[in-house]
Amino acid sequence: MNLAELNKIAVAMVTPGKGILAADESSGTIKKRFDAIKVESTEDNRRDYREMLFRSTEAMSKYISGVILYDETIWQNAKDGTPLVKLIEQAGSIPGIKVDEGTQALPQCPGELVTVGLDKLAERLKKYYERGARFAKWRAVIDIGSGIPTMTAISVNAHALARYAALCQAAQIVPIVEPEVLMDGDHVIDRCYEVTQRVLNKTFQELRVQRVELEGMVLKPNMAISGKKCPKQASVAEVAEKTVRMLKACVPAAVPGIAFLSGGQSDEEATAHLDAMNKIGNLPWKLTFSYGRALQAAPQKAWSGKSENVAAGQRAFAHRAHMNGLASRGNWESGLEKKVA
Ligand code: 13P
Repeated sequence: MNLAELNKIAVAMVTPGKGILAADESSGTIKKRFDAIKVESTEDNRRDYREMLFRSTEAMSKYISGVILYDETIWQNAKDGTPLVKLIEQAGSIPGIKVDEGTQALPQCPGELVTVGLDKLAERLKKYYERGARFAKWRAVIDIGSGIPTMTAISVNAHALARYAALCQAAQIVPIVEPEVLMDGDHVIDRCYEVTQRVLNKTFQELRVQRVELEGMVLKPNMAISGKKCPKQASVAEVAEKTVRMLKACVPAAVPGIAFLSGGQSDEEATAHLDAMNKIGNLPWKLTFSYGRALQAAPQKAWSGKSENVAAGQRAFAHRAHMNGLASRGNWESGLEKKVA
């Protein structure tokens, strides 16, 4: 392993002013997104949509440090035959790849999941590296509910995340370590804080046990945030203050950067939260975005599967990327959220 090289990539992924586009929706998830805009989820439509994003030069070259791809996409070519990976590289952005293979029910733990995909991962990473991927993603899912999460679920998922991260580094690929605590429940922010803290502590314990080099990884956590169905929603200031406090308590300063998932927050909330954290400042790591929905909801709607809407889709994407780029420096203001046609 060349740690200096891994560190260089990790640092580039969290360059101030930039963040990561999570465009790695599985076939099932992208179908759901396309259903919402009444577009059929065919291979060509998925390609056209993602080509639109990656050819959005304004967004990609100024605000997007890296793009997480799904297996289908990393092997796809643009309409003119150029590999999509090349479009990303030409825009000065780094291609990455989601390598987990989704979740399965965890035996003896009703309602809980374990992320799978470690078998043959070393071989798959080698092929992805040859295709141009320089970082990867693995998402563990932890749900909050009555009696859950169990320590079993936290422990097996942390173990798998660390196994994945060690295999990535051995393959000269920067692992994005993503232990996501879902915001779907009716829990208050403090419960999210407490569960996320346990999950992060266990994850870093496993990363140490499995000798993962912290300088060569990026953490992708959820924020400390109220459950979506909680009647008492924490303010932007409270989310920012509690998330920063939680991360300071759990994430070693050797980690170059933290790139949040949006997890179901509205576009503007995701931006406002990131901005408020960076306004607090004096942080040991870079704090940026690795958003899926919060970057793509607007361009999906503007595009709606019509070639004549490509420019509008790209404008919507550039706007969200710009707003989040500003938030990664703590320079965003709500007044900048003008409507884009
Ligand atoms: P969201 O920002 O839509 O949560 O997606 C980010 C991601 O990559 C989840 O794994």
